[in-house]
Amino acid sequence: MLKKIGVLTSGGDAPGMNAAIRAVVRTAIFNDLEVYGVYNGFEGLMEGNIKPMVLGSVGDIIQRGGTILYSARSDEFKTDAGQEKAIKQMRKIGLEGLIVIGGDGSFRGAEKLTQKGFPCIGVPGTIDNDIAGTDYTIGFDTALNTIVNAVDKIRDTATSHERTYVIEVMGRGAGDLALWAGLANGAETVIIPEQHETFESVVAKLKRGQERGKKHSIIILAEGVDSGVTYGKRIEEETKMDTRVTVLGHIQRGGSPSGYDRVLASRLGAKAVDLLMDGIGGRMVGVENNIVVDRDINEVLSTKHTINMNMYKLANQLSI
Ligand code: ADP
Ligand code: F6P
Repeated sequence: MLKKIGVLTSGGDAPGMNAAIRAVVRTAIFNDLEVYGVYNGFEGLMEGNIKPMVLGSVGDIIQRGGTILYSARSDEFKTDAGQEKAIKQMRKIGLEGLIVIGGDGSFRGAEKLTQKGFPCIGVPGTIDNDIAGTDYTIGFDTALNTIVNAVDKIRDTATSHERTYVIEVMGRGAGDLALWAGLANGAETVIIPEQHETFESVVAKLKRGQERGKKHSIIILAEGVDSGVTYGKRIEEETKMDTRVTVLGHIQRGGSPSGYDRVLASRLGAKAVDLLMDGIGGRMVGVENNIVVDRDINEVLSTKHTINMNMYKLANQLSI
């Protein structure tokens, strides 16, 4: 019978990570397990920065962005010696399983620990929505709404001044945030890494709009394609349109999680504990067609996340 588990957050933080921590801690305690919080991700795991958590440790956090357990990136943990060190710290306390809330990098770490005999479960927490095996990652919906609100504001001033705006959004190598925001904001153009639209075709589209009397344009650019500043400069040179650039940056990572992210985090956090209690490790929990599922972490890591091409086509169709 499983008695003690740990939980950590790792990699870039995401709104909803706290709701996931809360679900892990409360589900564990509900099932008479002891649960420990690991501070500063894998860095803290190697240092033994691990403390017991009680029901009150996760009170009043469901609505808070960021992560109360802090997050870190660690190169040492990528080595065998770093992983052994982490396992030693966990064994010292008597932990028998670990829940890792993070992105694909963090899952590689979780997989290594599982291979070394320490069962881990991954919970997808990243604004990028770039993980295979789940329709959504925790934080994506909140970040999307942050972008949507910001672009609405930019559109007001773009209209008043008859300007073209290039808005750079996050997502690392994935275009989901840009694509969803493009549709939700009615952007004239969405540029994402998965579908290579040439600079020439973007310019041609802008010029066609100009000829039809269009006075302003919103271009949503995924950071994985190019820097907004470079792209905006080229657009201005080529079209002679008055162009401005906004890089939304880390505001996309913060803020109170949306209702959807809180619910998703609660469901996935609880499922992660259930799996450990069933003696299962090396899995990632996710959601597919609104059903909570679990997938082999190795399989998840070796499968490329894809965007929904129908949505991309629709974004183009609606912005002719
Ligand atoms: P994310 O989890 O958001 O993708 P990172 O890619 O920065 O973020 O990964 C977070 C941490 O996971 C890294 O700092 C490192 O400690 C650990 N990690 C990443 N890749 C590996 C790997 N191949 N083996 C072991 N640990 C890894
Ligand atoms: O993975 C989340 C993310 O916010 C990406 O969208 C972005 O490319 C990256 O992290 C930024 O990382 P940092 O916080 O190290 O600047």
